[in-house]
Amino acid sequence: MNFAIIGATGNVGRKTIEILEKSKIQISKLYLVASEKSKGQKIKFKEKEIKIESLNSYDFSKAEITFFAAGGKIAEEWVPKASKKTIVIDNSKIFRMDKDVPLIVPEVNSDKLSMFKNKNIIANPNCSTIQMVVALKPLHDNFNIKRVVVSTYQSVSGAGKVPMDELISQSKDYLAGKKINSKNFTKQIAFNLIPHIDEFEEEGYTREEWKMISETKKILDSKINLTATCVRVPVMVSHAESLNIEFDKSFDVKQIRNILDKAEGCKVLDDRKNGGYITPIEAENKNFTFISRIRKDNTKNNALNMWVVSDNLLKGAALNTVQIAERLIKDFYGK
Ligand SMILES: NC(=O)c1ccc[n+]([C@@H]2O[C@H](COP(=O)([O-])OP(=O)(O)OC[C@H]3O[C@@H](n4cnc5c(N)ncnc54)[C@H](OP(=O)(O)O)[C@@H]3O)[C@@H](O)[C@H]2O)c1
Repeated sequence: MNFAIIGATGNVGRKTIEILEKSKIQISKLYLVASEKSKGQKIKFKEKEIKIESLNSYDFSKAEITFFAAGGKIAEEWVPKASKKTIVIDNSKIFRMDKDVPLIVPEVNSDKLSMFKNKNIIANPNCSTIQMVVALKPLHDNFNIKRVVVSTYQSVSGAGKVPMDELISQSKDYLAGKKINSKNFTKQIAFNLIPHIDEFEEEGYTREEWKMISETKKILDSKINLTATCVRVPVMVSHAESLNIEFDKSFDVKQIRNILDKAEGCKVLDDRKNGGYITPIEAENKNFTFISRIRKDNTKNNALNMWVVSDNLLKGAALNTVQIAERLIKDFYGK
């Protein structure tokens, strides 16, 4: 089959190329597309150089499956047109809550994948939601989750490649004693953190927080009550999350560890000693959702605390979209 990546030069696009290179998917041709400014640049894929095409002149009928990783505005304008000619797997927030579009994390709800036939579009969830539901799903299956309180510690790569450069430049300016001007953040990010991701919406929550709430309900279970606080931290790659989970049923921590240890996509790293836990830097470039600091919350019945970390550009974006494509090909194209 032929594949295309729209936004191939960005953080998620480049990671998608890397993951496709390692994937077992048989790729006849890969088309790489970005803005006019990147046209003609070359990116290596399987020892061959592929020339970047401009979105304005790209013909969507050339690929059977097209990954969109170019942001919400581009998705809003181009995905409806593209999906008439190709199956779209979209990284943006635009189609996630469309009731006719499946929102897929393969380990969690691949049974909903067939819904792609409605509009030829599959939505990739928000990066913070993906790693959280990968860890919650096996626990929900066993103990039935009633409520989740999540606080996130999200890396700057979640905002794109330009904000990553700004973290470096702000850090250099700070160390040189220079005045810091924030361009891509609402406040200084270097040696600081910002309790605000995406726009403010109703009731004082940000859109990122609402995304975690509504996407979890769509992917995992509409009955789960979830509340979120999303924070941008001066970390380059990988998002971390502190989760407080209340179950219907009683559990013991040993059971939780065993279940998570065996769960698809999860890896437990929980030694209860100095360094016996995962940090964002260690999760970078790894495909797993890592879980540490598993412990009972003794202030409530059937409640648990844990720490969940994953590479937001991999499981949070590129890896999940490629896994969706792999599943799609296996289930619907018999390959
Ligand atoms: N980063 C994450 O953790 C993450 C996780 C989940 C989902 N997502 C979503 O994935 C998408 C991409 O995010 P990102 O972090 O990879 O962004 P990014 O690093 O800023 O890359 C943006 C990409 O879009 C392309 N682009 C921009 N304007 C364009 C235009 N007018 N026409 C064609 N291409 C254009 C850019 O091409 P040029 O280089 O030519 O400008 C670049 O390839 C976003 O929707 C984001 O919300 C990101």
